[in-house]
Order: sequence, then structure tokens, then C-alpha cells
Amino acid sequence: MGCHSKLLLVVASTAVLTAGLVELVHYCLEEKNQDASKSTSKREVRSSVAKPHSEELIREQLARNYAFLSDDGMDKVRNQNIVLVGAGGVGSAVATMLIRSGVGKLRIIDFDQVSLSSLNRHAVANLKDVGTSKVECLKTHLLQIAPWCQIETYNELWNLNSSDRLLLGDNMEPTYIVDCIDNIDTKVDLLEYCVNKKLPVISSGGAACKSDPTRINITDISKTEEDPLAKSVRIRLKKRGIVSGIPVCFSAEKPDPRKAQLLPLDEAEMLKGDVDQLASLQNFRVRILPVLGTMPGMFGLAIASYLITSIAGYPVESIEGKNRYKMYDSFLQSLAGQQSRIGKEDQRVPIALNEIAYVLEEIFRGKSPISNYSTRLTLSRWDGSKELSFQNIVVMTKEEQQNHEKRCLNGGERLEDVYSAEVLERVEKRFKEEKFYSQFR
Ligand SMILES: *[C@@H]1O[C@H](CO)[C@@H](O)[C@H](O)[C@H]1NC(C)=O
Ligand SMILES: *[C@@H]1O[C@H](CO)[C@@H](O)[C@H](O)[C@H]1NC(C)=O
Ligand SMILES: *[C@@H]1O[C@H](CO)[C@@H](O)[C@H](O)[C@H]1NC(C)=O
Repeated sequence: MGCHSKLLLVVASTAVLTAGLVELVHYCLEEKNQDASKSTSKREVRSSVAKPHSEELIREQLARNYAFLSDDGMDKVRNQNIVLVGAGGVGSAVATMLIRSGVGKLRIIDFDQVSLSSLNRHAVANLKDVGTSKVECLKTHLLQIAPWCQIETYNELWNLNSSDRLLLGDNMEPTYIVDCIDNIDTKVDLLEYCVNKKLPVISSGGAACKSDPTRINITDISKTEEDPLAKSVRIRLKKRGIVSGIPVCFSAEKPDPRKAQLLPLDEAEMLKGDVDQLASLQNFRVRILPVLGTMPGMFGLAIASYLITSIAGYPVESIEGKNRYKMYDSFLQSLAGQQSRIGKEDQRVPIALNEIAYVLEEIFRGKSPISNYSTRLTLSRWDGSKELSFQNIVVMTKEEQQNHEKRCLNGGERLEDVYSAEVLERVEKRFKEEKFYSQFR
């Protein structure tokens, strides 16, 4: 044998050996995995033999919900087949409360893994779960709460191609679909799919950058406010001919310069291509969102409450913003008070209570044109030399109102000397808009 062919032989046999070794390792690993799954299922069987989940014990565990929702209502809850798409901060809270509340069958779909930075908002994950699939993590924890539940998991990305299989496959007849997806395109596809197939669906808006528990709200998609995610979804669904009929959980909390904000992506990073490294999948979460851990949980609990009560037929009547009128009334009082503070005899204000919403929300977008602040707001006359009218009232904070009265309305300083050209311009712009709208009022 020549030197050349010897070398070839060595190379060839090494290749065969390596391939064989790789196969062997695979084989062993698979065996081990199968063993592991066999032994877990054995363990499950054993534990369920040792501790049978008698109906009596299940009813004891769910006793408070039975007391609340009645046998009839609980029958309905326990017979639910709910599909949850998206098992992050919101989804994990939904799943946990549905299972704790007696829902009998839950299918959970998510392609992603539990990350360390998601522990600030996850309902059940702990450090040991980091790096494992989100759906398996939920299943493990949920079965420790209610072992009699049927929990199915799909560690896959939901998209239109996989839609039928993931939502309806394996004899699933969903009674509700819960959308906790954070990607706009996928979300829109899922919602459109559900509407077309007449599957009842509830959707979660965005909990990022939100902090005010009192503004969390569930309403029809056509009526959401201050939620950029819900807004994009609404616009895209409209293009596909869907304008209403989907309940959405969202927060109507307004953005404010003092609050956490969605910063635009750094141009330089985009060019460097670093953005992709931030994304766990292309087009997904290309930025790190500021999220207060409590908020996704509250969204999730709001959705779970909505589901459980509507399924059980429990009477819930949402307030639809009745509280706002208290706030509007205080705006009017403050404006009337100002009349006397600046020495006007007539304290009447030529604005009706229900017109305050128009001034605050439509004209001034719920914020002060002086600071952009959206809290502690009130109204003030603007130009002291002019009468009160829709084109002479400005939304501002209480502090700004005090200062405005002291310097302009009582102190006689000129607006130009107190405010920057930018602020003056913004106020004039608002007045102009009001003038335009007023033709149609
Ligand atoms: C769906 O499948 C089609 C054809 O099989 C493919 O062209 C398309 O890219 C797939 N879409 C997604 C979102 O996977
Ligand atoms: C909830 O949404 C409804 C409908 O958009 C609205 O009337 C109400 O003011 C909102 N409530 C809060 C607390 O934002
Ligand atoms: C308020 O927001 C506008 C843009 O909407 C911006 O031009 C202005 O500088 C902001 N003012 C302050 C005080 O933050």
C-alpha cells in the first residue's frame, strides 16, 4: 500500500468511527430521555394511585369558587377547553389562575424559553426553570397545583401554517382562545383566524411602560386607548375588515416624560446589526422593553377574571369610566374657583361637564402643553384679557395653574415673557384645532 492510500484508509476509518460514535451517543441520549419520560410517567401514575384525585377532594380545593359561582357556573368552568397562545408574563398569570379556578383542559402554545430577566414578571417560574421551555415550565408547576387537569403543551411558534394543527388538532374543540402574543403580525393573524372561525377570543394589549393599576381595563378592540400594541393591531385588523368584536385587556394610562418610555432603537446599533442579537427570534422583541413586573400579572389576572365570570355566566357590569365624571367635575370647580381668584364676579363657566372630556382628551390629548405632564391636571384660562371660551382654556397641572395665575392672570406678565415660543405655538395650535372642530359640533 502506498503512503497515499494508507492515509486515505486512516481518514476513512476515522470517519466511520466518528459517525458510529455520534450515532452511539445519540442512541444513548435518546434511550436516557425515553427512560426519563418513562420514569416520570411511572411516577405520575404511582402518585395518582397513592393520592387519587377524588371528586370530593377536588371540590374541597375549589370550594371558594363553588361558593362564588354556584355548581352550575363551576360545571361550565370545569368543562372548558381553553387554548393559550403566548406563555410569558401575561400568559403565565392567565394559565395559573385558570387552573387554580378549575378549568379542566388547557392547551399552551409558545416557542420560547424561560429567561432570567423574565423572572420579574412570571407567575410561577423559578431559577431552575431558566433555559427550559416556557410551556413545559408552566405544565410542571400547574400539575403540582391541580394534577387532575389536562394540560397540553406545544413548544412551537404559532403561525398561520401551524394554526389548524396547534389550535384544533388532536381533537381540540376550543371554548376560548387567549391571545397573549407580543408580536404584532402574529397577533393579528391569530385574531383574524379566530374571528373567521368564530372561535371566542380575548386578547392582551401591551403591559410595557405601564404602572397604574387603576387604569387597567377590558373593552372592545374598537375602544382601546393609549396602548400602542392594541392600536397597531386595531389598524391592521381594520384593513382585513375586522373592526370590533374582540375584547382586549389594556391600560389607558397615558405616557408621560417622567415615566418609563419606549425609546426608539439606536440608529448606530441597527447599523451594526446588534439588534438581531437582542432578538430571540427575528422580528421578535427587538428592543428591551421597560416592564414593571406587576403589570403583566395584573393583565393576566384581569383576563382570567373576565374569562371565568363570563364562562360561568356571573353578572359583571364594567363601569365604563363613570369615575371620570368626578375628575371632570373637579376641573370645572377649579376653573370656577379661578374666576374668583382673578377677581371676576361671574363665577359661571361657559362649559358643560360633558364638554370637559372634549377639551381634555380631544383638544389637549390628556396632557399639559407646557410640560407634557398627564397627572394632577386641571384647566385654566389662558389669556387674561380675553373671555373664557373653548379657544381660551388650557389643560395644565395644578402647579402650572397656580404659577399661571400668579404671573399672567393676576401679575399682568405677558404670555410671551412667561412661556417659550414652543409652548405658545403648541397652545395656539390646539386652539386652531378646536376652531376647526367647532364647525362640526
Ligand atoms: C407557510 O408555508 C408556506 C408554504 O409552505 C411558506 O411559503 C411560508 O413562508 C410559510 N409561512 C410561515 C409564516 O411560516
Ligand atoms: C375603560 O374603557 C372604557 C371604554 O373605552 C372607558 O369608557 C373607561 O373610561 C375606561 N376606564 C378606565 C379606568 O380607563
Ligand atoms: C412635549 O412633546 C412635544 C412633542 O409632542 C415636544 O416637541 C416637546 O419638546 C415636549 N415638551 C417637553 C417640555 O417635554
